[in-house]
Amino acid sequence: AEETGTVQWRPALHYTPERNWMNDPNGLVFNNGLYHLFYQYNPKGNVWGNMSWGHATSPDLIHWNEHDVAMSANETEEIFSGSIVVDEHNTSRLGSANSSPLIALYTSAYKAGSGHPAGTQAQSLAYSQDEAQTWHPYDHNPVLTLSPESKNFRDPKISWYPKGGYWLLTTVVADAQVVKIYRSNNLLNWEFLSDFSLPGIPHQGALWEMSDLFPLPLDGDKNDQKWVMIVNVNPWSIAGGSGALYFVGGFDGKVFVPEHLPPAGSDPSQYLWLDHGADFYAAGTFAHEPHGKAVIMGWMSNWDYAEHVPTAPWKGAMALPRVLALKTIDGIPQLVFSPVDQYTSLVQGQPAARIETLTVSSSIKELDPSTQGTVQNIAVTIHPGAAQRAGLIIRGSAKGDVGTRIFYDTSNHTLTLDRSQSGETNFSSAFSKQHIVNLPLENGELRLTIIVDRNSVEVFANNGRAVITDLIFPTLDDNRISVFAEHGDATFNDLAITNLSDLTNI
Ligand code: FRU
Repeated sequence: AEETGTVQWRPALHYTPERNWMNDPNGLVFNNGLYHLFYQYNPKGNVWGNMSWGHATSPDLIHWNEHDVAMSANETEEIFSGSIVVDEHNTSRLGSANSSPLIALYTSAYKAGSGHPAGTQAQSLAYSQDEAQTWHPYDHNPVLTLSPESKNFRDPKISWYPKGGYWLLTTVVADAQVVKIYRSNNLLNWEFLSDFSLPGIPHQGALWEMSDLFPLPLDGDKNDQKWVMIVNVNPWSIAGGSGALYFVGGFDGKVFVPEHLPPAGSDPSQYLWLDHGADFYAAGTFAHEPHGKAVIMGWMSNWDYAEHVPTAPWKGAMALPRVLALKTIDGIPQLVFSPVDQYTSLVQGQPAARIETLTVSSSIKELDPSTQGTVQNIAVTIHPGAAQRAGLIIRGSAKGDVGTRIFYDTSNHTLTLDRSQSGETNFSSAFSKQHIVNLPLENGELRLTIIVDRNSVEVFANNGRAVITDLIFPTLDDNRISVFAEHGDATFNDLAITNLSDLTNI
């Protein structure tokens, strides 16, 4: 019989391969009018293994087209995470007469018989002369090895450093909690520059994976540039399990120096996170983004339960791509996040159900049936007022027993996403949790943009000061929206609900 799979959880706005396992986004690059997404992929099954690079392209970061596997695991190695750049000036001399080569650096995870100790990792190069359609391994791989060979040396991220006129590479020694920084003139020979690590802080057991280092203007001022260092850590994340940590600081072409570090011994809540939900990992930025923006993509899952997620015939999705900006908040440069412009204009072009203002007094109120849906953008400004808690229940069931709760707590000044009653939750004890972020109200208000898909919720709060990304597993009938206030009155203003299920190819 034909396998139908879990269509009720098949995302509409989020990338998933048609079938099989996917983890990290790899080789994020814009080239010749298309965004390329490569990713950690098992061509043979719905669990981690046979790691290869899957491939998809998109003109707009929303609609994706799946292609053939770009690089496959073979007898000697699996293809772990890495990145791609366009070598415009053919510094590698791997280009053809008429086009710039695309250069991928990936991690070779060696098998027995490869000529390298089994289980060790090194950085290898592959190039494409036909706009990323076919890839050739470089003749003299690997291009970067540690001595002695290491089992945890991986995840090369390349970028061009215009000020120095050279290529930069960050890579990790995952179990030593170190980011290693290198430079190169030709992408083939790499010279060590420096290590970034934080000696003496408590996340010693965590792996450091998938780093990324890039500049951003602070408060929109092009003359005031800071550098952002992303380190994905597993476990020790703010929401438990794996998550994306970042630091802001200076980079002189050699050494990254973080600023405003919390004191040694601080817990995860004292650090800066790209996301406060459980499902945003292995995040990295697109190379050669056409508008010079930092557009980031993350894997929408968590190593605590990724293999137990109840979807088939695929497993693993990407979060919606977001734009990063640096803003001074409470005297400290911090990232703020927004969905990519292509998403925002897509939403704005659609009719929305609107409610100008609605006050709820110590009660739950289900909204009009016209607001029901499983793929939606929900925008709202909440005045929690005197209520102790105020918020929404989305993907709610008719009986009211199922629903994902998103609410503000006025005594703790926190925003919470509670998925404990969100549908199927019992496939992992690590799944059924609340995710909480400290967030002050702005003029007594909380502004939310909530992106709901069949399998996920992304909450952008107060102009992107915090984001919570979480997977959920409700049924298709769980499509109701309610608003609620506990112990007092709360007001909901400018509620706009846009149904997006028609826009997708499902
Ligand atoms: C992160 C990671 C990377 C590694 C890849 C293997 O999720 O563990 O460090 O390269 O996944 O699939």
